[in-house]
Formats: sequence, structure tokens, C-alpha cells
Amino acid sequence: MVLYVNSCVRSNSRTDRLARAVLSHLKEDVVELRIGSEEMKPLDEEAVDYRNQCIEEGRMTDPVFFYAKQFAAADTIVMSAPFWDFSFPAILKTYIENISVPGVTFHYDDQGIPRGMCKAKRIIYVSTSGGPFFPEYGYDYIRAIAHDQFGIEDACLVVAERLDLPETDVEKTLEETIRDLDHIL
Ligand SMILES: Cc1cc2nc3c(=O)[nH]c(=O)nc-3n(C[C@H](O)[C@H](O)[C@H](O)COP(=O)(O)O)c2cc1C
Repeated sequence: MVLYVNSCVRSNSRTDRLARAVLSHLKEDVVELRIGSEEMKPLDEEAVDYRNQCIEEGRMTDPVFFYAKQFAAADTIVMSAPFWDFSFPAILKTYIENISVPGVTFHYDDQGIPRGMCKAKRIIYVSTSGGPFFPEYGYDYIRAIAHDQFGIEDACLVVAERLDLPETDVEKTLEETIRDLDHIL
């Protein structure tokens, strides 16, 4: 199963369009999680305490672990995120907080190093940007946490950039990126 983690915010999102082309290309069953439509909040003190209490008491069937379990069980992750403020929309960080659960998506070894517990072998990150795309604070972070914490070996970037610049033919740029998917994926 492919888990499509959709963090696109705008209706008629170009990033979502590109991500759907990626999903068609994969030709596998897809479960979509549109995270902006979910009851998902950044972790506050109460939420952290509640989650820790569940873990301590072994209450791992609690609904608080739903997103982490879903992420851990997926065969492939496709994650879409427009390039916002050199990074991605805040809702995606909220999602990461909600799935980073020791005992579900990773565990700590004897040295306190996180070891991944996720089934997926690959995460495909899809983005579009208004100007030039920089990976440092968005894609690179997702790639690092996917690899070093969740144990997902491969990461791949699909991006169409400069879409808001006056000289850019948006349709042509998106179509060229889609045509290139054979090489990228
Ligand atoms: C809140 C916000 C922040 C943005 N920040 C950047 C940015 O830092 N750099 C950039 O090149 N484009 C930026 N953009 C432009 C978007 O990356 C671009 O329009 C993108 O294609 C939007 O994707 P979408 O069509 O999927 O919504 C920003 C747009 C918004 C709405």
C-alpha cells in the first residue's frame, strides 16, 4: 500500500497535481491522508503527557497512535508539500510530531540511537516552488528523519520550480516534470 501524505493547502494545488501523476506512475493501491482535513494538532503538554502515559501503560491500541501505525505499515510513502518559506507548510511538521512515536515508528537502541521500525523502503517527496527550490530546510529534513529515525532507506525528490516567475510556462514545466518521472523514480 502506498500512503499519500498530502499536505497541500490550496485548492487546485500544482504540487498535488504532480503528486497524483507520481501515484499513477507507481500503479499501486493508494491510501490518501489529506492532513489539513484531519483532527491533528501540534503536540502541547497535555498531548505529550497523554501519549507518554499510554506508552508507559502499554495502551498501544489508543487512537492517538493511528497516524504513526498507518505510516509504519505503508510499503511506500508519497509526501506532497508546496515550498513555503524555504520549507513546507506547518501542518506537515504537525504530522511528523504525530507519527514520531517510540515503539511504533522507531525505537531507541542500547546507546540511545533511534532505529527505524517502518516497513517502507522509499519516500517520494513532491514539491513545487514559486522561485528556485532549495532542499535544505524542507526536503533534506524529511529525508534525514525518514532515514535516521524511521528507517526508510531511500528518498527521492520530484520538484517543479520557478512556477510563479513571469517567464515560466507553468503547464509546460509541470508536463515536462511528469514526462521525466520515468528517470526520477
Ligand atoms: C505561504 C507561502 C509561502 C511561500 N514561500 C515560498 C518560498 O519561500 N520560496 C518560493 O520559491 N516560493 C514560495 N511560495 C510559492 C509557492 O511555493 C508556489 O506558488 C507553489 O507552486 C505553490 O504550490 P501549490 O500550487 O501546490 O499551492 C510560497 C507560497 C505561499 C502561499
